[in-house]
Amino acid sequence: MKISKPSWYSHTLTLFFFIIIIMMSHVANSQSHQLYDEEHAVLMKIKQYLRNPPFLSHWTQQSSTSNNNHCSWPEINCTTNGNSVISLTLSNSNITQAIPTFICELKNLTFIDFSFNFIPVSKLTKLKLFHVYATNLVGEIPENIGEMVDLENLDMSQNGLTGGIPSGLFLLKNLTILYLFQNSLSGEIPKVVEALNLVDLDLAQNNLTGKIPEVLGKLKNITWLNLSLNKLSGEIPEAFGSLPAMVDFRMFSNNLSGTLPSKFGRYSRLETFLVSSNILSGNLPENLCYNGRLLNLTVYDNNLSGELPKSLGNCNSLLDLKIYNNKFSGNIPSGLWTSLNLSNFMVSHNNFTGELPEMLSSSILRLEISFNQLSGRIPATVSSWSNVVVFDASKNNLNGSIPQELTSLPKLTTLLLDQNQLTGPLPSDIIHWENLVTLNLRQNQLSGQIPDALGRLPVLSQLDLSENQFTGQVPSQLPRLTNLNLSSNHLTGKVPYEFENSAFDTSFLDNPGLCSDTPELNLALCNSTPQRSGKGSSWSVSLITSLVVAAFLMALLATLLIMRLYRKRKQEFDNSWKLISFQRLNFTESDILSSLTEQNIIGSGGYGAIYRCPVDDFGYVAVKKIWNDRKLDQKLKSSFRAEVNALSNIRHTNIVRLLCCISNEESMLLVYEYMENSSLDKWLHKKYNKASNFSSSAAVHHVFLDWPKRLQIAIGVAQGLSYMHHDCSQPIVHRDVKTSNILLDAQFNAKVADFGLARMLLKPGQLNTMSTVIGSFGYIAPEYTQTRRITEKIDVFSFGVVLLELTTGKEANDGDQHLSLAEWAWRHIQIGSNIEELLDKDVMEPSYLDEMCTVFKLGVMCTSTLASTRPSMKEVLQMLQLCRDQFDYGGDSKLGHYDVVPLLKDSKSETRLDVVDTL
Ligand SMILES: *[C@@H]1O[C@H](CO)[C@@H](O)[C@H](O)[C@H]1NC(C)=O
Ligand SMILES: *[C@@H]1O[C@H](CO)[C@@H](O)[C@H](O)[C@H]1NC(C)=O
Ligand SMILES: *[C@@H]1O[C@H](CO)[C@@H](O)[C@H](O)[C@H]1NC(C)=O
Ligand SMILES: *[C@@H]1O[C@H](CO)[C@@H](O)[C@H](O)[C@H]1NC(C)=O
Ligand SMILES: *[C@@H]1O[C@H](CO)[C@@H](O)[C@H](O)[C@H]1NC(C)=O
Ligand SMILES: *[C@@H]1O[C@H](CO)[C@@H](O)[C@H](O)[C@H]1NC(C)=O
Ligand SMILES: *[C@@H]1O[C@H](CO)[C@@H](O)[C@H](O)[C@H]1NC(C)=O
Repeated sequence: MKISKPSWYSHTLTLFFFIIIIMMSHVANSQSHQLYDEEHAVLMKIKQYLRNPPFLSHWTQQSSTSNNNHCSWPEINCTTNGNSVISLTLSNSNITQAIPTFICELKNLTFIDFSFNFIPVSKLTKLKLFHVYATNLVGEIPENIGEMVDLENLDMSQNGLTGGIPSGLFLLKNLTILYLFQNSLSGEIPKVVEALNLVDLDLAQNNLTGKIPEVLGKLKNITWLNLSLNKLSGEIPEAFGSLPAMVDFRMFSNNLSGTLPSKFGRYSRLETFLVSSNILSGNLPENLCYNGRLLNLTVYDNNLSGELPKSLGNCNSLLDLKIYNNKFSGNIPSGLWTSLNLSNFMVSHNNFTGELPEMLSSSILRLEISFNQLSGRIPATVSSWSNVVVFDASKNNLNGSIPQELTSLPKLTTLLLDQNQLTGPLPSDIIHWENLVTLNLRQNQLSGQIPDALGRLPVLSQLDLSENQFTGQVPSQLPRLTNLNLSSNHLTGKVPYEFENSAFDTSFLDNPGLCSDTPELNLALCNSTPQRSGKGSSWSVSLITSLVVAAFLMALLATLLIMRLYRKRKQEFDNSWKLISFQRLNFTESDILSSLTEQNIIGSGGYGAIYRCPVDDFGYVAVKKIWNDRKLDQKLKSSFRAEVNALSNIRHTNIVRLLCCISNEESMLLVYEYMENSSLDKWLHKKYNKASNFSSSAAVHHVFLDWPKRLQIAIGVAQGLSYMHHDCSQPIVHRDVKTSNILLDAQFNAKVADFGLARMLLKPGQLNTMSTVIGSFGYIAPEYTQTRRITEKIDVFSFGVVLLELTTGKEANDGDQHLSLAEWAWRHIQIGSNIEELLDKDVMEPSYLDEMCTVFKLGVMCTSTLASTRPSMKEVLQMLQLCRDQFDYGGDSKLGHYDVVPLLKDSKSETRLDVVDTL
């Protein structure tokens, strides 16, 4: 049967409706019979309302005890206890009626999925509040939604809506809240606006184009205006600057040009001003902080210029100053440095001049002033910058020496002073930098010896002292650094044994006095060091000549050999490279070897570079190239292979599969399955913005790690770890669990990577204790740094940190004033903070609150300082699964708390003492 329809009507509008109503309480049995009957009646009413369509012919009168009760109908799911309808799917049916309002009588309904062709002007015109956010709603917004004239509050955010924004929406005179953010809406913003009562308008994260309509400047009541993450162009209407109610203004990541409205902030109580990542030019408005309420000033990545307004020096409300990557010049207003509440001072990549301040606000955690023209010395009063965690002053004109006082900043994790004109020796007291992870002093004129104390900094992992005038020997005690560069200095003597492998092949270059026992470091060999010049120069000339000739002959020979081997490759087994495969593979070692090129590098781990190599039947594989210590003996090599073999036998959905291992005398290549969505940290900490390895920007825009996805990831990782700890013949401890080691496949299934690698790279006799700590800052269990003892509980600790990251959205080493996230979480539990306020605002919704709190508490339990009070991975997994089941059935929340809370209490009372002790 075909009906001719008007054009707006002929669109097939597929609108899936989910209304989230979470009710959590227990149902007694007798009540549940009554409830069943009531709900049954509602269902029969729906059937009747739809005029008894044939596809509902099986909806017949049934009693709750019948085994064909309505909970067994395919369109319906019920709560597990209580038999109350929670979901109703009537899609793919030819329903043309509007959703009947009596559907609300199904009190526990959390999910409605209706396909229908139009919303007639019906009872819905009386609707004032319409919320269908964060569901899988797809299709276009019906044009006639503008007929719901009484609508005051419309939230269709976080769906898959396409098409344009119906202009009718902007004609709704009573509309005060309109949320359409995080959809795929395109086209322009309607130019006729009669919805003058709008207070909140959020169209962020869509595909909107064209200019921002001038007429939005008439929204006198607008408080929240967010058009960020679209493709809007043209200027920001001047009238926006005078809107009296504006509090929160967000336009970041568009193509907006022109200047900023000059009166911005003068007439309103502006708190948030985010216009970063556009092509805006001109000055910053003079009065942004006129009313003393500005919290966030975020204008980075634009072409803004001129001096900063003097008034900013008198803005004590400011928390965040992110103005980097512009063309600002002149001196920074002196009051800004001491702004009472400022925590992020980020002004890098501008043309600022002047000197560093004597005093700095104690609230500043991040001081980033790199790539400017700041000059003068680092003041001795730097010791008063007590809370600074990151100090980045790279590429300025700073001179003088590094003051001793700089070592008294206890919280410093990152110190970047490279590319300045600093002179003199390193301060002697550097041992106080107990939290320093990164130290970069490249390209200065620093001199003197490299202090041995550097080797005793517990968490230092990146050290660059290159292009200075350091003398003396390389300290042998430097920790196993992931990055070390001492090149272009005047160091002498022999490179300590620890560094004699290809991982450090660019670490010591251009130090004429330095030698090594291995050619891998590209240095002179120690035993054949030429005599001092003057004595035997003719001898050394002849030595060099003969070396060159020998090298040439060897290269020739090698070339011939390689060519011969290459030709023989197909018929014969290749002697030089050995491939140990753990399953049938449709690629050969040479397919892999030929694609180990610079442009295929996708990352580097602690153990070497990682490549993405194309292969026929897998699409891609990931190849980890591991540096190999030349001194590895045959026995160790075979034990390495045995380990690899053991790992390759492990098949678990949550552990990245090792496909094969390719090795020769010098290198080891581990070939893994390739994971499309990279690692968890990229998603969680939004690192994908800059270093995007992702297939499409659409993925970045529209896939968002909501809470259910995060919980699923947590469960996946827990399954993988629990399997390795409890279900393998010998427990395998990971030792380096962190978000960057948690990889995500195309469907966001979590897989743990690098399992066993830490263990494989140990030397014999170090099986249970280690001379150096493997692990990453923020994730390392306290007993591990102290005793170096390895138990499964160190993985539990690290996993706890991952849980805290998933629930709070914070990074492992970023716990505000405190150092690590784990410590931060502990303190909040100790002082009895409201957990709700600690959770990640980006994913928090009332319906997830319980699960998020439970998982947060679980994270705290796992990061207990006392290893014995941490739960086992198996217990952790059970608790997470309980949490998920509770979520799935939308029901009884007591289930989860019953098991988690007593455990938490136990561990808390025991460990609280312990925490106090260690403080
Ligand atoms: C469902 O809704 C009713 C109220 O109609 C309520 O009494 C009951 O506790 C709810 N929950 C379950 C699991 O049935
Ligand atoms: C009912 O639950 C099953 C199993 O969880 C699920 O596959 C199905 O999609 C659900 N049906 C509805 C209508 O929600
Ligand atoms: C929907 O209607 C079309 C024709 O109008 C018919 O072919 C189809 O079977 C109907 N679908 C259902 C589920 O009733
Ligand atoms: C809007 O709200 C006012 C005041 O609540 C009400 O009188 C009016 O009927 C509503 N609807 C329209 C279409 O103005
Ligand atoms: C945005 O629009 C462009 C063309 O205008 C289109 O190619 C792209 O796929 C759209 N992206 C999304 C996420 O809708
Ligand atoms: C704005 O808000 C005020 C006070 O709440 C109200 O009186 C007024 O009607 C609203 N609308 C416009 C367009 O000013
Ligand atoms: C404002 O700054 C604070 C402090 O850095 C930060 O926590 C908050 O997320 C920022 N708000 C926005 C909207 O960027």
